[in-house]
Amino acid sequence: MTEQFDFTTTSESVTHPRVDTSVFGEDVRADAKRIIDRYPESRSALLPLLHLVQSVQGHVTTEGMEFCAEQLALSTAEVSAVATFYTMYKRKPCGQHLVSVCTNTLCAALGGDAIYRELGEHLGVGHEGTAGTPGEQGSITLEHAECLAACDLAPVLQVNYEYYDKQTPQAALELVKALQRGEKPAPSRGAPLTDFRDAERQLAGFFDGPGADESVAGSSAAPETLQGAKVAHENGWTAPAMPDDAELPPLPEKK
Ligand code: FES
Repeated sequence: MTEQFDFTTTSESVTHPRVDTSVFGEDVRADAKRIIDRYPESRSALLPLLHLVQSVQGHVTTEGMEFCAEQLALSTAEVSAVATFYTMYKRKPCGQHLVSVCTNTLCAALGGDAIYRELGEHLGVGHEGTAGTPGEQGSITLEHAECLAACDLAPVLQVNYEYYDKQTPQAALELVKALQRGEKPAPSRGAPLTDFRDAERQLAGFFDGPGADESVAGSSAAPETLQGAKVAHENGWTAPAMPDDAELPPLPEKK
């Protein structure tokens, strides 16, 4: 179904009659308020609000954008401009798991392209395609990703943004088959694996879902990543200290 909305609305004139209160009910609105209260300027809350929408609906719907616009007194066009710019906001329903394969230069050269090809053939989908029914157990959305900031552990992939380092096509295939069976193999580091929607709730800033207790406790650093700091320590290299009396600009009044 093609979703359409009016791109010509302005934040002064906008109304949002299509926000379904059965989807975006009191509990979601309370969460939205908690997010908005964190920021001096309400509109700064848009990014975590869009993650909240994804945690509720599994992707960013037109209705979800209208919900954000309503909460922040923005136009749907302003929200759409943000939601369609960043790749972490999905416009199509996502699977239980989002598998992101890095195919940027270093990972590609070390096997990322082969991993992506292997998973695409196994799942029978291409970029942003979903194998299975979105949201149901074992459904997998596949995407190729730009550099995932783990080049020292290439080739890498992420499941719901948790890292699986030093992958091979065979290891990645085994991982995806396990996900399809409903298993949740432990990531190489960091938080335990949850579902896409639970990860989105964490990205919105709420740590009250499954596995949330451990979600910020796991170490995300690998020995390879710490090698630079180790060499600096061994050689007595330090960065200039941050002055304690550095003047910071005043916070603007809450709008
Ligand atoms: S190129 Fe893959 S993590 Fe940087």
